[in-house]
Amino acid sequence: MQGRDRKMWGGRFEGKLSPEAEAYSFSLQHDQRLWKQELHACAAHARMMGITGMLSAHEANRIIDALLEIHDEIEAEVWHPSGAYEDIHTAIEARLYEKIGALAGKLHTGRSRNDLVATETRMWVRERTGDLARALLRLCEQLMELAQQHLETPMPGLTHQQHAQPVTLAQHLMAHCWAFIRDLSRLAHAGDRMNLCPLGAGALSGTSFPIDRELLAAELGFAMPAPNSMDAVADRDFVAEYLFVCALLMVHLSRLAQELILWSAPEYGYVELSDEHTTGSSIMPQKKNPDIAELIRGRSALAIGNLTGMLALLKGLPLTYNRDLQDDKPLLFATLDTVIPSVILMRQMLEKARWDAERMRAALQGDFSTATELADYLVRKGVPFREAHGIVGGIVRECLQQGITLEDLTLEMLQRHHPRFEADALEAIDPMHAIRARTIQGGTAPEAVQQQIEQAKQWLGVIEHQLNELLNPN
Ligand code: ARG
Repeated sequence: MQGRDRKMWGGRFEGKLSPEAEAYSFSLQHDQRLWKQELHACAAHARMMGITGMLSAHEANRIIDALLEIHDEIEAEVWHPSGAYEDIHTAIEARLYEKIGALAGKLHTGRSRNDLVATETRMWVRERTGDLARALLRLCEQLMELAQQHLETPMPGLTHQQHAQPVTLAQHLMAHCWAFIRDLSRLAHAGDRMNLCPLGAGALSGTSFPIDRELLAAELGFAMPAPNSMDAVADRDFVAEYLFVCALLMVHLSRLAQELILWSAPEYGYVELSDEHTTGSSIMPQKKNPDIAELIRGRSALAIGNLTGMLALLKGLPLTYNRDLQDDKPLLFATLDTVIPSVILMRQMLEKARWDAERMRAALQGDFSTATELADYLVRKGVPFREAHGIVGGIVRECLQQGITLEDLTLEMLQRHHPRFEADALEAIDPMHAIRARTIQGGTAPEAVQQQIEQAKQWLGVIEHQLNELLNPN
């Protein structure tokens, strides 16, 4: 780096960037968050240069020691990469220059900011994958714990927002849990594709220096070097894929948030959210508003927007590196900053909520949601299902005309509709009876949901193992 000039590329220029152009193009305000990855990648490069003879052992050690000093300075807030530099790579190199002089200039041999930034962004995403995965895992555990407590809590199951068939709260919560388990699995798999190291690609075509790409990849925790130097610097699929995983996760959170919002409304009253996650009104003293759930629902918009923003950023780009790519980071950072707290808050909200089993049970009273079970009864007595459906439809119509519900039916009334109805037919009308009958794998019967919870634990174990391999390669 040329002493006073804060650019890495000043040599061929007579003039300077206009202040407006400078302000427009600088990225340090965003990419300073990559400082740890930058120092790690620089140290790995220096060590590799020492091993391959591109630097003497003494030179390599001096660079590594100075990088460690910079690490400690930033951590102790003695020095921080500041706005005077174009990006994190320039800022760190300048600091290195201040510490060890011209030797700092040897570090940039055989590498480019193009392969550096692609490497460091991957490392950053990988690290945050760990944070997100841990939060998501705890959310799944919370849902499974609640499901375990509510294996026998009946509630209306809905289609088209209409009462359809009785289910248990456990089955309903596990349905959400499976969506989050898929999100976790997607995180692990996206991680596999991301985990290739661009270093050694240089600006775009590779390098004539004896860079040991295997060593760099291993040192920085990657599975292997990226196979094509041009793809290595041009590829941001891992950002897009990650943003997709986050957007879909936010959509899942938003759907759950929407149910909590509805269920905490007085018309439902299934759940009361804790004071910790609700707010009052400045004008209406009685209000208890589910703001955190609403914000989670609302912030899914940011995650969806950032995903589409990233795809738009990539769509017209010719190979290889283009400066447009710099703008992947604000999208990525803002999304992660939103998604991780959303997952944590959803878990806390579920943990602290008070569930009202009585209200859920009461919602099944007179809602006709065991009509299917009544039809199934006739099927078990040999009546074809289509016919049984029509007969029970007639029973429902009669009830509605008389202003009564299935619970009010007598055996005599049933038998008027079909002679195969016997005394035990009245049991079919009980929601818990209908629930207990659905013992099929994946069904809502308590023992089936219990099996499902065990299955979820197994799946989570497998995904955790995949994630561990990604996050702790050595
Ligand atoms: N700040 C840049 C980015 O984040 C680093 C790479 C710049 N490379 C270049 N040739 N201008 O993408």
